[in-house]
Amino acid sequence: MFIQCIFLISSAALIFAGSISISERIVGGQPANISEVPWQVSLLERGKHDCGAVIFSDEIVITAAHCVESNNLEEYSVRVGSSKSNQGGQVVQISNIIRHENYHYIYLLNDIALIRLKTKLQLGDNVRPIPLADRAPAGGTPALVSGWGRIKHKGPSSEDLLKTTVNIVDWNVCRRSYGYISKDQICAAASGKDSCQGDSGGPLVVDGKLVGIVSTGNECAHPYFPGIYANVAVLKPWIENAIKFV
Ligand code: ARG
Repeated sequence: MFIQCIFLISSAALIFAGSISISERIVGGQPANISEVPWQVSLLERGKHDCGAVIFSDEIVITAAHCVESNNLEEYSVRVGSSKSNQGGQVVQISNIIRHENYHYIYLLNDIALIRLKTKLQLGDNVRPIPLADRAPAGGTPALVSGWGRIKHKGPSSEDLLKTTVNIVDWNVCRRSYGYISKDQICAAASGKDSCQGDSGGPLVVDGKLVGIVSTGNECAHPYFPGIYANVAVLKPWIENAIKFV
């Protein structure tokens, strides 16, 4: 998954190289209990945390397409209901994956996938689906992002679940930062706060609704480059249709 991130990043970074100092600030997270974000999933690859994901129902989770590029279903499983990335909760195997048919692995367009679980999740205070947003929030709206990803650009990841609040960035403003983004992407940023490598596939939430899936970005908490998320409101028709087939 790093390859894709780095590809997008390097093209944008080249333009700015030399004119900026590299931000190494932490992603600005605080510890979160899984009960605060019970829709948060850890997607395991060969038993180890690799990406985030989100509970859509007791048998379907949503993640980023770039997190599930292998067709070998056996490689993947999910952990739910734990604040730790490496222990606790329920670990469930998966039975199918559908990636968006227009997923673009370099530009990370339509970076979304559905996963069907082999056995149903036992829902409870720590394991809950989240509804999908119907429309993308306006620029400036605060949004909650969570995960076990890196705590700073090129830094270590966290075994304990972290959360932080970032603000939705107006689409045109974000497009100007990167030179290009597409309508199925939504950006969010705040000073010293961001999602980072290992958070991909995880939730960006406003008012108890899923508005974004962590996708990519240039470095992490970079002052000029917001985090980029798959825009759930735009992708909702795809999700609702794909659910019938996954
Ligand atoms: N592509 C990264 C991953 O696979 C997520 C990067 C998010 N970056 C950001 N600046 N918000 O985990």
